[in-house]
Formats: sequence, C-alpha cells, structure tokens
Amino acid sequence: MQDNATATADRPSAAPRHLLVTGGCGFIGSNFVRLVVLEHPDTRVTVLDKLTYAGNPYNLAGLPTDRVELVVGDICDQQVVDRLVERSDAVVNFAAESHNDNAIADPQPCMRTNVQGTFCLLEACRRHDVRFHHISTDEVFGDLALDDPARFTEASPYCPLSPYASSKASADMLVRAWVRTYGVRATISNCSNNYGPYQHVEKFIPRAVTSVLAGVRPKLYGDGRNVRDWIHVDDHCRAIWVILTHGRLGETYLVGADGERSNIEVLHTILRLMGRDEDAFDWVRDRPGHDRRYALDAGKLRRELGWKPKHTDFAEGLSQTIAWYREHEAWWRLAKVATEATYAKRGQ
Ligand code: NAD
Ligand code: TYD
Repeated sequence: MQDNATATADRPSAAPRHLLVTGGCGFIGSNFVRLVVLEHPDTRVTVLDKLTYAGNPYNLAGLPTDRVELVVGDICDQQVVDRLVERSDAVVNFAAESHNDNAIADPQPCMRTNVQGTFCLLEACRRHDVRFHHISTDEVFGDLALDDPARFTEASPYCPLSPYASSKASADMLVRAWVRTYGVRATISNCSNNYGPYQHVEKFIPRAVTSVLAGVRPKLYGDGRNVRDWIHVDDHCRAIWVILTHGRLGETYLVGADGERSNIEVLHTILRLMGRDEDAFDWVRDRPGHDRRYALDAGKLRRELGWKPKHTDFAEGLSQTIAWYREHEAWWRLAKVATEATYAKRGQ
C-alpha cells in the first residue's frame, strides 16, 4: 500500500478530517461509519440519511456524538447537500434504494435516489471541489453463465439487466463524466454481495436467518442455482477506506473476496449451522429477469492498494452473522413482519 509520503497529484493522501457519509444509517454505510470512528480518530463524520424503511438510526447507537452527527435529509435535496458538502473534505455515497425486488415492483424511488441523488452530490462536489467516492455494485456488468470461466474486471463492459443495476450503472456513468468534464476528484468501487450484521431482513441471508429464528421456512427463488460472490461487510468497508485515502483519482476498483456460491449452497449452510434439515425451506417463484451469476476479480485492488479480505472462512462469517441476528431480535422483529407481508403479496 502506498503511504502518504509517496502520494502523487492523482492520489489523495491524507485521511479526511470531516467526512460526509450518505446512507450511513443503512447496512454497509453504518458498518463503514463504525469502522471509521473506531479506527481513525482524526476523522469525524456527518451522516446524511433520509431514514427510509432501510435506514435505522439505531445502527449508529453507541458511537461518540462528538465524532458522529446525523442529519436526516435527502440526497436529492440540492440545498441540504450543498450545505453539507461545503463543510466536508470528502463524501462517500452509500445512499441508495438497494433492493432488486423493490425496484422491480416500483422502479421510481430507485431511479430518483440512485440517479438523481448521485447527480446532486456530484454537482455539490464540483462546486465546492470536494473529494467524492461512489459506492457501486458488480451488477452493473450484467450476469455470467454458470459454466463461464470469466469473472468481471474493471475492463468489463457495462451491461445492466435489472432496474436496480441500470440505476447504479447510470450513476457510475455520471461519476465518470464529472471526473472527465469537470475534474471532480472521484473514485468508484463496484462490490459483490455483502453479508454481516445490520443487513436489512429483505436481503437473502438475513431473510433466511430470521425466518429460521421466527420458526418460518426460508424461501428459495427459481431453481436455487443462481450464484453470488459473497464478501463480509467488514472487508468491503476496509476496501472503501483504502480507496478513499489511497486510490487513484478517476479510477474504478472492483471489490470482492472470491466467495462464489450458489443460493442453494448458502441456504443449506445456514440451515445446517442453525441445526435444521437441509430441505427445511420452500421453493418460490423466480425473480423476473433474475441475474444468473456474478463473479469478480479484485486483483487491481489487491495489487495496487494492498487490500486483502480478512473474513475468508464463509461458514465462520455466517455463523457470526447468525449469532448477531439471534442476539438482536428487537432490531429486526418489526421490519420482519412488514417485509414478509410485502413478499407474501408478491408470491415470494
Ligand atoms: P441499505 O438499503 O441497507 O441502506 C441504504 C441507506 O440509504 C438507508 O439508510 C436509507 O435510509 C438511505 N437512503 C435511501 N434513499 C436516500 C435518499 N434519497 N437520501 C438519503 N438517504 C437515503 O443499502 P446497503 O446494502 O447498505 O447498500 C449501500 C450501498 O452499497 C448502495 O449504494 C448499494 O447500491 C451498494 N452495494 C450494496 C451491496 C450489498 O450487497 N448490499 C453490494 C454492492 C454495492
Ligand atoms: P439479494 O439478497 O436480494 O441480493 P441481489 O439481488 O443483489 O443479489 O438476493 C441474493 C440472491 O438470493 C438472489 O439470487 C436472489 C436470491 N433470493 C432467494 O433465493 N430467496 C430470497 O428470499 C431472497 C430475498 C433472495
């Protein structure tokens, strides 16, 4: 990893003193804020979060209030965004409508927040010359066949296939255009599927875990053979910090931990770790346009910035995640009821 003394003009060098984190009350954003506050004492954080159904201020509970401030607001509100960006020296944008099934049912909020919101942030960063890091997904590259030996790299063509993926791809395109046209000091990271504490119960792993805890059978879409490339959220957050502080401006970095697994394999592992029969789940109708496989090669991040994942034992990471949900029932119980009611209406 490059140290501060060797930083060049296209590389940010110092840790930001005042960081604006959008979407910091969500899953990955709150894990990132906690990591920054606990491990980087010279950085204080303002969180801008709309507190949608996916945002929970409790996710930041216990963090020192002199280091973390929560502003409840919308990244599409240009006035609020400008005011907060102006007093920050870097922005990390996690805020998004992040769930494919919701975006399929109603794409409007996803387009608004993911595209329009990124535009607002970029405009503010352009006006105030503030460093911007944009959090994106491997889904912008489309999907791979199960028997394809290829994995996505930074050079893979964009080919989004779902409403959510196309909104994230659009936002990435805006970031690239603002770098090239206006010289905005930005980087992008495209990460694979995250798991770990504080993930909303609508997502596959926490949904399955909380279903078992609630005495309900988990649901598997389609034929269960779709593959996702799993990474622990802590490894993702550490990668973001390294890219923010040492990444080359204008560059994209893929973040992944060589964690390809089929959905049925993941569900079998969860059921086994929770002491249930491997077939104690229900098959449900497939997601329309369901991406078959994601897999990515994070070689550039490893080579250039010296990042590597710490959580390489998936079963161990899963069992810690299961323990977290077991111990935090009050955190997920109400959201579980609302989420399952929505899924039931969709036949999923
Ligand atoms: P999440 O749904 O858990 O959290 C999103 C947060 O953004 C919530 O706190 C929500 O209140 C906030 N938010 C939504 N709309 C907003 C708006 N208009 N203004 C301000 N705040 C708003 O999402 P997550 O899983 O933590 O994902 C964070 C980011 O990482 C997203 O950009 C997502 O696309 C990306 N990503 C997620 C994964 C994954 O596996 N979860 C993988 C790769 C990339
Ligand atoms: P999800 O967590 O929604 O993430 P993404 O759509 O970003 O990959 O879903 C992960 C995989 O799990 C995806 O292939 C859909 C599947 N899935 C199920 O089989 N059952 C479920 O209950 C859910 C929510 C998802």
